[in-house]
Amino acid sequence: MNQRQPNAKNYRPNVNIADLCCDWIPDLFLFIRSVCFKLVFMEKIKIALFGFGTIGTGVAKILFNHADRVAQATGQTVELARICDKDITTRRDIELPSGVLCSNLESVFSDPEIKIGIELIGGLEPARTFVLRLLEHGKDVVTANKALIAQHGNELFAAARQFGRTIAFEAAVCGGIPILSALSTALQANTLQSINAIVNGTSNYILSQMEGGKTSYRDAVLQAQQLGYAEANPAMDVDGTDAVQKLTILAQLGFDADVAWQSVPRMGIESIESIDFRYAKELGYRIKLLAVAERSSEGLELHVSPTLVKADNPLAGVRDAFNAVKVVGDSVGSVFFQGLGAGQLPTASAIVGDVIDTILGRTAITFRTLNLWNSDKPSIAIKSPNEFFGKSYLRFSVQDQPGVMHEISGVLGNWGISIASMIQHEPENKTDNKSAVLILTTHEAREGDLLEAINQLEQLHTVHGNVVRLRVQN
Ligand SMILES: NC(=O)c1ccc[n+]([C@@H]2O[C@H](COP(=O)([O-])OP(=O)(O)OC[C@H]3O[C@@H](n4cnc5c(N)ncnc54)[C@H](OP(=O)(O)O)[C@@H]3O)[C@@H](O)[C@H]2O)c1
Repeated sequence: MNQRQPNAKNYRPNVNIADLCCDWIPDLFLFIRSVCFKLVFMEKIKIALFGFGTIGTGVAKILFNHADRVAQATGQTVELARICDKDITTRRDIELPSGVLCSNLESVFSDPEIKIGIELIGGLEPARTFVLRLLEHGKDVVTANKALIAQHGNELFAAARQFGRTIAFEAAVCGGIPILSALSTALQANTLQSINAIVNGTSNYILSQMEGGKTSYRDAVLQAQQLGYAEANPAMDVDGTDAVQKLTILAQLGFDADVAWQSVPRMGIESIESIDFRYAKELGYRIKLLAVAERSSEGLELHVSPTLVKADNPLAGVRDAFNAVKVVGDSVGSVFFQGLGAGQLPTASAIVGDVIDTILGRTAITFRTLNLWNSDKPSIAIKSPNEFFGKSYLRFSVQDQPGVMHEISGVLGNWGISIASMIQHEPENKTDNKSAVLILTTHEAREGDLLEAINQLEQLHTVHGNVVRLRVQN
């Protein structure tokens, strides 16, 4: 032991009060001066929140409980002055100062002291009208509403430009993952080649549960609802609508694509069964609901579909309610983002980040330079779905009799589709010796030809019911 080190037990610091005062008094003086300066000169930014539900409560928690953090980030006092909701009587998970809750929305729209409005009521109307009213009254807007942005982006962004205001919407895609910020700023030096993303946490949770083989689709949906991941009506999560809306927002930022979300081909996860996970595993894949934007010389390919993803692809390892985005740019190469795409605080984190950026003027810079949802701006050509090229996984329930394979391969061959692999196992149900499950994977084929071939295959009397088709990606 170093002899100069005093024994901790007997150690008495040699304190000289005069020295201590000399050290501390200037710091104390600076501290008091800075507090007084802030109290007198620091501007107070008042903001209003519309929709005191799950996410609204999270935003209020951050803004009230971490006001110091927000003040430090902005250099200003940020006051959540008004929270508007249809219901201002139900107790929420946070104590609010009196007078903050209000139901008179008009008084908030027209309050000149409110500088930023946060829209968190969700859906299209009256959210659209609220956002327009805020912009008309000279307020900047922050929203987490992907449906609103995907549906009315052109109208809302035109209004924001007209009134010299901004709209920030980081939380609308992948909740807490700062993917829109990355696309708008740090990745701007790139021409993007592709975005492959898991953007719907509910469907990813359902697929993850089914993967084990013990949970049916129906039970997985129920579990997702019990855990608060899925809505009472989870249709828009499982049929791919939510993912397509988010994909069109990513495509607008990453590729200058002005595309109506309704025109993007989508398949949901409703027709996937436990056996598909078994066959996918046997082939070396996992099944994910992928949102894909891929640039080629013919334009941008956009689609959302359940996809067999190679087991060693990082997207294959994204489980439960997590989201992930893989972006490939010409300079940066491949970058991967992963995190919670939903939930109260992860989503609120993105919203408060947008509030801070709006106050600091960062939003105004990207808003002006990116010029999003402007129909006057040239948009990348969107590739016709029939012209997509890709590999597929096809599951058939077929008559278990000689010649069936010959018939199926004949139809595929007529459309120029070549088979890459085939699996048929002994039926598990020994009493059913009439039908069998047949799995085929194809080499790259033109989408239009594949859809025609599937249509013809479903007419064959040896093929029972619909053919289940998933995309295959390496
Ligand atoms: N939940 C997530 O994890 C998540 C993640 C990312 C983005 N988002 C987005 O965030 C937004 C809010 O989602 P949320 O989960 O917080 O929804 P939520 O829990 O349903 O909250 C919405 C709130 O707005 C209120 N409201 C509805 N219409 C209103 C009106 N006309 N005037 C005033 N208040 C009204 C609702 O009241 P009632 O309940 O009485 O109708 C409810 O309290 C949505 O756009 C959603 O897509 C959510």
